[in-house]
Amino acid sequence: MLQVNQLTKTFGSGSNKLQVLKGVDMNLKQGEMVALMGPSGSGKSTLLNIIGGLLAGDGGSIELGGRTYGQKNPSSVVDIRREHVGWIFQDFHLLDNLTAVDNVAVALELSGMPAKQAEEAARIALTKVGLEDRMDHIPDQLSGGQQQRVAIARAIAGNRPLLLADEPTGNLDIASGKEVLQLFKDLCHDEDNPISILMVTHDPDLASNADRMLLLNDGKTEASDIRSAWGLDEDDGGEEE
Ligand SMILES: Nc1ncnc2c1ncn2[C@@H]1O[C@H](COP(=O)(O)OP(=O)(O)OP(=O)(O)O)[C@@H](O)[C@H]1O
Ligand SMILES: [Mg+2]
Repeated sequence: MLQVNQLTKTFGSGSNKLQVLKGVDMNLKQGEMVALMGPSGSGKSTLLNIIGGLLAGDGGSIELGGRTYGQKNPSSVVDIRREHVGWIFQDFHLLDNLTAVDNVAVALELSGMPAKQAEEAARIALTKVGLEDRMDHIPDQLSGGQQQRVAIARAIAGNRPLLLADEPTGNLDIASGKEVLQLFKDLCHDEDNPISILMVTHDPDLASNADRMLLLNDGKTEASDIRSAWGLDEDDGGEEE
């Protein structure tokens, strides 16, 4: 459903020139949850921003939802941002004064949905993420994990087929992080309406729960199984009896 071909991106010029992406090739199937790992500064957020239509690359292309882009100015890929991609960030980006249902509904209204229909869709999305009994709470009255689930509801409410999640569990405790990951898996493996998720994480334990892992290294992505990436391939000490 997503295809990235030979994507390149350079920041700066002259002696400040930094080629962050050097020809990234990757794809995502419908219903797949892929973890993207790589050292700090390797370009993970840059890659997500280009896929999400927030930033233009210099070379290569992206295919998503019948559209080809990647080098286009963000102003000409509005439809990608509105219809195709939902975002989840480390800090949940919720509006403090709005209830959970309004936080989700307002995003839909901004994309042109009538208020009543938006509220209905918001309630459905919040139920899907397990917050049916927290609809009318404001963010301060919710735990971090619950706030992130509101953000996830907001991202999926518009029926967007691809979620881009940049360190979605970075601000959560281990248990809440695991819950968010399980929710991601459930959303990807939903039989009726499977979505796809590309998730940046620094946590190898969470990454190992994804369907597949990609490592961004020296400007390119490589397929990686968790164990070899983390040097766990060697005999791990024979803990089995
Ligand atoms: N707008 C920009 N202008 C100049 N340099 C930038 C810009 N955005 C990112 N960079 C540089 O590109 C490199 C990749 O940044 P990016 O944020 O994509 O890394 P990352 O893999 O997401 O890192 P982290 O794991 O720390 O979030 C970094 O060296 C960063 O300083
Ligand atoms: Mg980043």
